[in-house]
Formats: sequence, C-alpha cells, structure tokens
Amino acid sequence: MSDLDSLRARYEEMKALGLSLNIQRGQPSDEDFDLATPLLTCVGARDVVTPSGVALRNYPGGVAGLAEARALFGGILRATAEETIVGNNSSLAILSNTLKWALLRGLVGSDAPWAAGPRKMIVTVPGYDRHFTLLDALGFEMVTVPMQSDGPDLDAVEALAASDASIRGLVFVPTYSNPTGDTISDEKVDCLARMRTAAADFTIFADDAYAVHHLTDTPRIPKSLLAACREAGHPNRPVLYGSTSKITFSGAGVGFLATSVENVALLTGYLGAEFIGPNKVEQYRHVKFLEAYPGGLEGLMRDHAKILKPKFDAVQTVLERELGGTGLATWTNPQGGYFVSLDTTRPVVKRVITLAAEAGVSLTPAGATYPHGQDPTDSNLRIAPSRPPLQEVEKAMEVLALCVKIASAEADA
Ligand SMILES: Cc1ncc(COP(=O)(O)O)c(C=O)c1O
Repeated sequence: MSDLDSLRARYEEMKALGLSLNIQRGQPSDEDFDLATPLLTCVGARDVVTPSGVALRNYPGGVAGLAEARALFGGILRATAEETIVGNNSSLAILSNTLKWALLRGLVGSDAPWAAGPRKMIVTVPGYDRHFTLLDALGFEMVTVPMQSDGPDLDAVEALAASDASIRGLVFVPTYSNPTGDTISDEKVDCLARMRTAAADFTIFADDAYAVHHLTDTPRIPKSLLAACREAGHPNRPVLYGSTSKITFSGAGVGFLATSVENVALLTGYLGAEFIGPNKVEQYRHVKFLEAYPGGLEGLMRDHAKILKPKFDAVQTVLERELGGTGLATWTNPQGGYFVSLDTTRPVVKRVITLAAEAGVSLTPAGATYPHGQDPTDSNLRIAPSRPPLQEVEKAMEVLALCVKIASAEADA
C-alpha cells in the first residue's frame, strides 16, 4: 500500500463516522454567550433614567451614544469618551457608515468626496473576508499588502500611500488580526502615524475587533494608534472600530468607534442627519452588565479565555502532532483573537476544503482571506475554533490535517 493509499483508507474511516463539524465562522460558543445571560434581565422597569440623567425611553441623549457607554467602550479602544461614538450592534455597520459618508461628502481634510474620483484602499492579506466584500460593494479597488507577524508590511504601505493620492487609506486589524492572530508592533504603529501620504485625508481604518480578546494573562498591548497619530501631528488619520459581538452577544451587541474629537464632530454631524440616536436601552444594559460582572470587562474576558484557550491549544496540538516536521504546512499560534491561519506548502487549499467537506467538516471557503475570493497561491486557510465544543475542534482538526496530507500527496503524485 502506498502512503497515499493508506491516507485514503484512513480518510474513508473518518468519512464513515458521519461527522458534521463546522470550524468555518468566528462565532462565540453558547458557553460564551451564557456568560452574558444577565444582560437579558439586568435592566428593568426602574431603569428609565441613566445616572447621567438621560431618559432612556425618549429621543434625547445624543447621536454619539450614552455618556456612560462612550466612557466604557472608549476605554476598550484606549480613547476618551469625547473621542468615542457608540452606536447599535455591529462595528462593520459603523465602519461601513464612515466609508459611505467619506464617499458622499468626504472626511476632515478632504478636498472632494471620495466618490468624485478613483478610489483605492490598502488591505492586508490574508485578511477578513467581510472587509473585502464591503470595500468591493462600495466600489473601492483593493491594493493588497502582506500581513506580517508584526503587522502590515510597512515598506509596501508607505510606498503606496506616498505615491498615489487615489489611495484613500488602509483597512486592517491591529490586534490579533483576522485570520493570522498577529498584532502590530509599536514601531509599526509609529510608522503608520508618521508616514507621508499623497492624500491629505488618508485614513487608517483600524478594525480593533479583538482589542481585549487575550488568551494569556500577559498580553502584549500595542502602542495606541490614536495617541501615536496625535503625537505625529496627524490626529485625524486613525479611526478605530470595536464591538461587543465577541464580548456579550454577537446578535445583540453594541458597536463603537474612536477617533479625534474633530472627526467625532464631523461624523456625529453626518449621523445626526440620519437618525436621532442609537438604541439607548441596549447601551445602558451593556454598561450595567459589564460594571456588575465580577472583575468587570477584564473579568469577563478572562472567563471567555478559559473557554477559548483549550480550543486554541487543541488546534496547535493536533497540527503539531499531525503536520509538525512534515513540511506540508505552517500555521500561526495566536495569543488572542478568534482565528488561526494555516498555509499549505503546495497550492492545495481548494482540494483540502472539498475533501474536508466530503468528510463532514466545514471550513472557511478557499480564497476567503483574499479580495474577490482569489488566493493567488491557493494556500491560505482560516481556522475558526471558537464555536464548536472542544472535542469537535479536535476531531475537525484531525480531519483537516489528514486532508492536507492527502491533497499534498495527490499534488506530488
Ligand atoms: C476583524 C473583524 N471585524 C469585525 C467583525 C464583525 O464585527 P461586528 O459583529 O461588530 O460587526 C469580525 C467578526 O468576525 C471580525 O473578525
């Protein structure tokens, strides 16, 4: 029996198990959601006015969000309340709102709306599929730069930003990036803050979805991009985004952004034309819940880490055991966030995904980590271990590793 034959025999055994496993999307588990169950009941009939005197049931309160929520969620992005806007659920919706207003009206320093001319956006690859879908839908041409273990490839970003005024900005994930789990270094934060840009309104859209999602007790927290840009004389350059989607409930959370006070004034002006104010009951409920949680937000994130860490450890253990030393793949070992990124040595990811699907394991579609779903080397795969129970993560990883071996052996045959 050849090696490939014995791998295939093992694969048939796995298939016969009738598995139905999914490590495709970065969703919290029900165990994670259970931590936030008091959110559903912590606001009651007595909670009609906030401590700062805002009537929750009526309109007034401000389009930028409740004062208490701006202070709390600004803290996640290391911003003051005045530098923070808190909206409804979904940071992606808030990011998309900023981009739409930039296209229609421009941002601080724009000499014309972005939609008036060609528009490009630098994105990091591998990256987050929904960023690509959004930018594509809004008509941005995406220019890719590699995501490195210490953040975006800054030589590439600097060269692009300096040379082309139609490049409007950069979209990336600064902390525990999706999908690599990499975090930007302090040096690169400083470079982004200082760099020369051809567009006066070049904007860094830093999607800090995993700013507080540490898996260890000794996280390396990167330098604040807001502070660095302020110090470098470009206070309006960065806009940071975050949400409670992976803190409380993904389907009923709170999204927020942090930026300069001048940008906050511009964006709240735009927002105020759209609506009177966000859902204040939801914001207040989050503030009350997080303030009452043992250890506050940090305590809750530590409890999430207790659930998530064994799953991330299982990914590493199975990959190391099955693929370590084979030369067939490399993978990241994130210290936080929601994903692990795996690169096969051979261009076999499409085949791996097909094989895994036939064995009952659902993986993120091939190419999803690149704009337009086109991974030029068919080698990057995003692993999302958060949602299934630990045993299912282990089993799914065994199937995945086996499929990498089979697809690689087929490629060599
Ligand atoms: C980097 C990143 N940003 C944003 C989101 C979605 O956030 P929200 O639910 O706040 O829109 C995700 C979800 O996977 C993500 O990975």
